[in-house]
Order: sequence, then C-alpha cells, then structure tokens
Amino acid sequence: MDWGKFKRELLVGPAVRPYLAEIARLRITIFKEFPYLYQGSREIEIKYLQAYAEAPDACVFVVRDGDAVIGAVTGIPLSGEPTSFTASFAGSPFSLDTIYYLGEVLFFPAYRGQGLGSRLLKEFEDHVRALGRYHHLACATIERPEDHPLRPSDYHPIDGLLTRVGLTRHPELRVTLPWPDLDGNVTENTMVFWMKELQQLQNP
Ligand SMILES: CC(C)(COP(=O)(O)OP(=O)(O)OC[C@H]1O[C@@H](n2cnc3c(N)ncnc32)[C@H](O)[C@@H]1OP(=O)(O)O)[C@@H](O)C(=O)NCCC(=O)NCCS
Repeated sequence: MDWGKFKRELLVGPAVRPYLAEIARLRITIFKEFPYLYQGSREIEIKYLQAYAEAPDACVFVVRDGDAVIGAVTGIPLSGEPTSFTASFAGSPFSLDTIYYLGEVLFFPAYRGQGLGSRLLKEFEDHVRALGRYHHLACATIERPEDHPLRPSDYHPIDGLLTRVGLTRHPELRVTLPWPDLDGNVTENTMVFWMKELQQLQNP
C-alpha cells in the first residue's frame, strides 16, 4: 500500500519499546479530546503500553511524517486483558481466546479526514488475519450523551468509520472503567464493544 510521504511501520515485541513515549504522547494529547476527556500521565501511559511490547501477538503500527509519529494503531489478544474488562463476554457467543482487540487508532487532528485511519485499519486487519488464530476483531467506544456539554459542534463520531470497516456495535457487551477526567476527578465511563467476524482463517 502506498503511504506517499508518510512512513508506516509494523512493530512487534521489543521493537515497540523505543516508540512507547511517542505513543503515550499521542494517547495523552488525543484522549483529552471529547469523547474521552481523559487526563493521562506519561508514567501511567508508558506502564500501560508495556503490554504491547510484551504480550504474545500484540502489535503496534505507527505512521510517521518525517521523524514524528503522527498516528498509530495498537492491538492485543483480548484473552490477556483483565477479567474486569472482559467480564461481559462470559455467556456471549464469542470465545475470548480467539478475539483480537483493537486497543486504539489515533491520528493527530491535522492528519485526520484524509483516509489514513481507514488505510491503517485495513493493514491492521490484514495482519490479524495473517496471524491465523483469531475469529473476531473487537474494539470499544465510549458512550456519551448527545447533549454532553463538552461535545464540540464539529465533532465527528467514529461510528461511521467503524461500520465502514465492518465492525458492529454490541450494546450487550459493555464495561465501566474509572479514569481521571480533565478536572482530575476519577469518574466512571461506559465503553461498548464492537465486533467483526474475520473470514479466511488459516487455522480455524
Ligand atoms: C478515528 C481516526 C483514527 C480516524 O482516522 P482518519 O484518518 O481521520 O480516518 P479517515 O480519514 O480514514 O476516515 C474519516 C472517518 O474518521 C472518523 N473521524 C473521527 N474523528 C474525525 C475527525 N476529527 N476528522 C475526520 N474524521 C474523523 C469519522 O468516522 C470519519 O468517517 P465518516 O466519513 O463516517 O465521517 C481519527 O479521526 C482520530 O484520531 N480521531 C480521534 C481519536 C479517536 O477517536 N480514535 C478512535 C478510538 S481509539
């Protein structure tokens, strides 16, 4: 796939480590935005992101403009995530062992709306399919009321993009997570999972 002036790199295992600080910077900057409203810290972010350098089959794609990382997607098998995160899958038709979780897809604002995110998600999905062990892709979006006071008037919901890449919202699969909001107070946030069945499995 032609990335033009951008450089795209797939990182796995220890190759992720040198990029942790830049991915943390992406997360801290972007997750301050609506709908996340998350006040991240470099130390906690880097600790959280270590899992992407350590978990078997985890991966990170970064997109660079020159030397700077301007976008990324992260992924990890869902079975390695805490049960507090995955509890709603118990009793669902989905088997945790064969779900690959899209942790986040992020681009700095100046790079959005020109197809980079869709292209990166396609390459991410191709990579997960090639692993041959995963029946489903999952991701989670945050629930915010339409009339949330911090919702910008030009806000682009991500739902259109997720639907276009074949993910389906599963309102029955949800989790509530605490995180520090922009005032520094820890608040509860509800996330809903989206699922996509992967075809052409190599080892079904
Ligand atoms: C979501 C995101 C990665 C998409 O990347 P992108 O390169 O802008 O995506 P594309 O140009 O391929 O597609 C545009 C789609 O992105 C979504 N989008 C989300 N925020 C957007 C923004 N600020 N500008 C443009 N599109 C945005 C829209 O769904 C849009 O689809 P639409 O045509 O249905 O409106 C990027 O906009 C972003 O980083 N947003 C903030 C972080 C985020 O919400 N990440 C997802 C959860 S971790």
